[in-house]
Amino acid sequence: MKFIDLFAGLGGFHVALNALGHKCVYACELNDSLRKIYEKNFNINIDGDITKLDIKKIPRHEILCAGFPCQPFSKAGNSQGFNHKVAGKMFFYLFKIIKFHKPKFLFLENVPNLLNHSQGKTWNFMKKRISKLGYEVDQKIVSPIDFNIPQSRNRMYIVAKKNKLNGFTWPKKLKPKNNLKKYLSRNPKLIKEMTEQRKNAIETWKLFLTKMPKTKYLPNPLWSMEFGATYPFENTTPLKIKLKELKKMKGKFGVSFKNMNKKEILENLPNYSKVRTEKYPKWKIKMIKKTRDFYKENKKWVYKLIPKLINLKSEAYQKFEWNCQGDKFNFTRKIISFRPSGVRVRRNNSSPTLISSTTSQVPYLTWKKRFMSYEECLKIQGMEKLKYYPKTNGVFFPAIGNAVNVKVVYKIGKELFN
Ligand SMILES: C[S@@+](CC[C@H](N)C(=O)[O-])C[C@H]1O[C@@H](n2cnc3c(N)ncnc32)[C@H](O)[C@@H]1O
Repeated sequence: MKFIDLFAGLGGFHVALNALGHKCVYACELNDSLRKIYEKNFNINIDGDITKLDIKKIPRHEILCAGFPCQPFSKAGNSQGFNHKVAGKMFFYLFKIIKFHKPKFLFLENVPNLLNHSQGKTWNFMKKRISKLGYEVDQKIVSPIDFNIPQSRNRMYIVAKKNKLNGFTWPKKLKPKNNLKKYLSRNPKLIKEMTEQRKNAIETWKLFLTKMPKTKYLPNPLWSMEFGATYPFENTTPLKIKLKELKKMKGKFGVSFKNMNKKEILENLPNYSKVRTEKYPKWKIKMIKKTRDFYKENKKWVYKLIPKLINLKSEAYQKFEWNCQGDKFNFTRKIISFRPSGVRVRRNNSSPTLISSTTSQVPYLTWKKRFMSYEECLKIQGMEKLKYYPKTNGVFFPAIGNAVNVKVVYKIGKELFN
């Protein structure tokens, strides 16, 4: 069948549908460098901005594919949905094309949060609009890890067929296997370099783990700035009590507020505590309490590490997320990602989601002492056969983090077009 690839990016839909024997007759993508790469890879002219194209010129097709921009519905973005100035409107442009061409199949992708965005109203609205054009629509959250592709990447897949989806079933999950090794290479070519600050963060938390008593529980997350802090967090908050009172207390890493002015005190409070509110939400109280209790129990050895933790400077490095409860306390065969919420450690059975909004969360493989390479990222997205791809961090990582997983699309497509 003939298909079109809207919001084409690196061409994840293209690769998967080609492998299923279908032919791309049209594509569009806003980003200039991605467009050039798409043309070279697939030998096809590709249009630009979807808002400017003449939809009558799109050739006849049976399948419409679109991973429409997800930022407005993503948890990571600010969830403005349709109110998002530009990206939120993309659904309407897509809808116009569907309405005009009415292809037999629709195959769409978005972030999982679209399902619950605005208490489910956003997706319900979209689904109704598409259904009214005579389609049966279905959707499901699917992750590559469900099919033994080593990446946790929940995405919402939407399939629709004119009249009825008769007989379509979502591909079945496979029994999990630890096979990340198959996706890693001995001699990777392109690797993102490690900054000194990150090296320092890894070394500091590695040291921390070597000191951690085997039988003790390590809270997740651990907000080390709370070590030694005494500012109020349970019944009130530091910005709500009198300065005179606050001066009797301690801030980040136990620094005394005694001789500080208001500005200095603010500088010595963790960012998450500087909210002008009578009371913190329950989850925040719980997180702070966990770290403070941990500190009370472990002060004897933890306090010696405080200068090193202070030296990490950024709170994102001073927070630690040990997602490996039950494992020995070390970095052997672990995957680390540097997230705004903290230094996140996970087991090596799968890679964390490759994300598009930043180049800083590329998975770091402790046993290889390096970040995942460009080629490895392509492979866990099923795009290892792409001949051309961006060669700079600033273009490559957003693009690979935006792409659909080719193998997931292939599996769903195989059921859908049968
Ligand atoms: C979620 S990504 C889709 C990725 C793609 N499915 C893949 O496999 O690589 C959304 C893409 O839409 C593109 N885009 C955003 N606004 C656009 C517009 N107005 N017209 C065309 N493409 C647009 C972005 O540059 C981005 O590459």
